[in-house]
Amino acid sequence: MERFEKYLWWQTGIIYQIYPRSFQDSNGDGIGDLRGVAQRLDYLHDLGVTAVWLSPIYPSPMADFGYDISDYTGIHPLFGSMADFDMLLREVHSRGMKLILDLVPNHTSHQHPWFVESRSSRHNPKRNWYIWKDAGPEGEAPNNWLSVFGGSAWEWDELTRQYYYHGFLKEQPDLNWRNPEVQAAMLEVMRFWLNKGVDGFRVDVIWHMIKDEQFRDNPPNPDYQPHMPTYDQLLPVYSTDQPEVHGIIRKMRELLDSYQERMMIGEIYLPIPKLVMYYGVDNKGAHLPFNFQLIDLPWDPVKIASAIDLYEGSLPANGWPNWVLGNHDRIRIASRVGIEQARVAAMLLLTLRGTPTIYYGDEIGMRDVPIPFEEVQDPQGLNMPEKNLSRDPARTPMQWDDSPYGGFSKASPWLRLNRSYTRENVAVQSADPYSMLSFHKKLIALRQKEPSLMAGDYIPVHSDRQSIAYIRKKEEHGAFLVLLNLSHWPCYFNSRSPLKGIIEVATSPELEGEEVNDRISLSGDEGIVVRIL
Ligand code: GLC
Repeated sequence: MERFEKYLWWQTGIIYQIYPRSFQDSNGDGIGDLRGVAQRLDYLHDLGVTAVWLSPIYPSPMADFGYDISDYTGIHPLFGSMADFDMLLREVHSRGMKLILDLVPNHTSHQHPWFVESRSSRHNPKRNWYIWKDAGPEGEAPNNWLSVFGGSAWEWDELTRQYYYHGFLKEQPDLNWRNPEVQAAMLEVMRFWLNKGVDGFRVDVIWHMIKDEQFRDNPPNPDYQPHMPTYDQLLPVYSTDQPEVHGIIRKMRELLDSYQERMMIGEIYLPIPKLVMYYGVDNKGAHLPFNFQLIDLPWDPVKIASAIDLYEGSLPANGWPNWVLGNHDRIRIASRVGIEQARVAAMLLLTLRGTPTIYYGDEIGMRDVPIPFEEVQDPQGLNMPEKNLSRDPARTPMQWDDSPYGGFSKASPWLRLNRSYTRENVAVQSADPYSMLSFHKKLIALRQKEPSLMAGDYIPVHSDRQSIAYIRKKEEHGAFLVLLNLSHWPCYFNSRSPLKGIIEVATSPELEGEEVNDRISLSGDEGIVVRIL
């Protein structure tokens, strides 16, 4: 890839998120594993993605399905062994792909030996590795901070008669990142995986890592509505996004920079002006602070177009953009906007400027699966049952083929499959040139072949209540017009300047190869990528 010399792999590439429990089971226990992932690498390579991000694979009591880690440098036996991991890393690299691990530095499992020690006595050397505070005068919690998963963020510990802080489950005590020993220990963890050759980390809840030194009460959220998670009752201005977090991220970055071409993605749900701070001074922060606008915004063309501009306009010089449509915490795109619009969404994701991340299964249009009450597993769902917040529906097994359990496993899987898996699966879609999968492959191939789409400028052209139009263009490499109809009824585009082009990829493949001029009409739910001639 000579012509992209000045770009790095995480800029020109496409990231694919695997939720390991649900991708491929190789040993018949109904839970996905590392050997399973390895078996499917050819599929990913063929799809055209270039980097795999694995959600946590470490030893964990699984209170939060692996985001509660009890050993940062091991592999959970459910997922395999360290030898399996080494094999997977080799196999990924041998295909010219990269492997990104999930790093969860904000909290450990309550079963992590550090916490076991910390809670054992007020005088234990690890006491100050976590956040311990005395009760208030009436025995109440030290302040009003709330857990993301419901209830107070403080848990009383009878043995040493203090509260500890947990931004998530009580089984996920927060580490005290103001303690240099904690910082050193986590950098050591990173070094362990970097020395193995891991290419980068997706850093879990990075904006939570440091809390207000004075532990002031969070203020009420004036926009709170009863359907929202209870966590949203307060604005987490003192419990998250503290200025000192950038110093920590910088240290992580320095470590990464002491290796060749390693990278860090930060999981950050913040408004754009705050989000872009995570690139750090002189871009020495996270390489890619995750940009979740396409997940959070209503599916409204004017709002989306202006959000793209807001983002483009806010990026620091040389800050590389990125885009995401879905992940293991959010409703899948095909369920949020419908399967027809999911194609338009994929076209948006794969033609915007910046690294795209695809959530497993979205490339075949997987939908959220209703999980009956008695089968709900996600703690967020179980803790706030009346609010329909379970994340299980977006975490169901990958639909590979029409065999029992969808080719995912030989045994009944940990979460049920979508009933439609016999029709909607990789095998069926691979053979169908009109499928969502074939559409993804075409879009990805075009993006990866065309410097203008991979790394060209983003030039806004038009947006109205139905559509968005923009151009991608890189020097002498030619320009592409992307026209997306986000409505279900026909739309008409009038170019302000003379236009002649040919449709390279369309949501309806029938359009591909057609010539267009400055007046373009599209059906509802249609999108096109036009090579400008
Ligand atoms: C992140 C993860 C989510 C997890 C939480 C706590 O938001 O994406 O799945 O529950 O952190 O670790």
